[in-house]
Amino acid sequence: MTCDVLNFGSLNLDRIFKVDHLVRAGETLSCTGSDAVPGGKGLNQSIALSRAGLKVAHAGKIGRGGDVLRQYLQKNGVNVELVVQDESLPGGEAFIQVDSEGRNSIVLEPGANFEITSTEIAAVVAEIPRDGWLLLQNEINSIPEIMRAAAGRGARIAINPAPCRENVRNYPLELAEFIFVNEIEAFVLTGCDNPETAAQCLAERYPHVGIIVTLGSAGALFKRGRERIFQPAQKVKVVDTTGAGDTFTGYFLAGIHRKLTVEGAMNAAARAADLAVSEAGAANSIPTADRVFGK
Ligand code: RIB
Repeated sequence: MTCDVLNFGSLNLDRIFKVDHLVRAGETLSCTGSDAVPGGKGLNQSIALSRAGLKVAHAGKIGRGGDVLRQYLQKNGVNVELVVQDESLPGGEAFIQVDSEGRNSIVLEPGANFEITSTEIAAVVAEIPRDGWLLLQNEINSIPEIMRAAAGRGARIAINPAPCRENVRNYPLELAEFIFVNEIEAFVLTGCDNPETAAQCLAERYPHVGIIVTLGSAGALFKRGRERIFQPAQKVKVVDTTGAGDTFTGYFLAGIHRKLTVEGAMNAAARAADLAVSEAGAANSIPTADRVFGK
């Protein structure tokens, strides 16, 4: 397959509910507006890479009603030859509350995303471009198996192990070149609730891997061995933070692919994420390259 990045990841229908506050235990709350749009960390990151100007192929599995997700990727210039469909399975769905401050909480129905067979995985791995990038998140099954097979083919791996549970500590993350986590994911992986200490801990555990910890409105941190870069975020009016991390990941990788320094890639990624949070939605709020890298 000829592409800059093969992204093997989730495709969800995002059901978005605007609420005054995130619903509390035992509470029933009416939303003030709702929408259903393409999403999934995998799909969002493919869109970010494509809008950033890279040649992207997306691999993944959709279920009933998933055609709209494949079409959305295609419309955005993403190669979808490796997206398979199984009409007997429910499609991936995300139930997203967004409060008046733009914060969200998400419940996932993994559906077809977690029904990828070993044969389908082998078919995708065989298509990873030699010396090309493989991008992964943690919304599909068999990530450790995929990482090992990809590393065996000499692929450069970048992973955003989100959503992150404790079992991710057992993933072969040392095979990655970059790991992207937010503060909560960094805590799950290390037990440290201080992001600086968590980043340091991950950098010591994986000394050859670039660790990126995104910090929301406080910016982002990069650690690799003794290297440390702090990237502040701009003060923007936050409308919706959904997909901000996906935008950051896609644009960071695009920056690296464009041969920017890590500092330059962090800067571009932060600018892209700032633009994304200023608009509602996930995939649809990801900016195009001209707004991030300039014309
Ligand atoms: O990162 C945002 C994404 O997380 C949403 O689009 C939703 O589908 C969930 O996977």
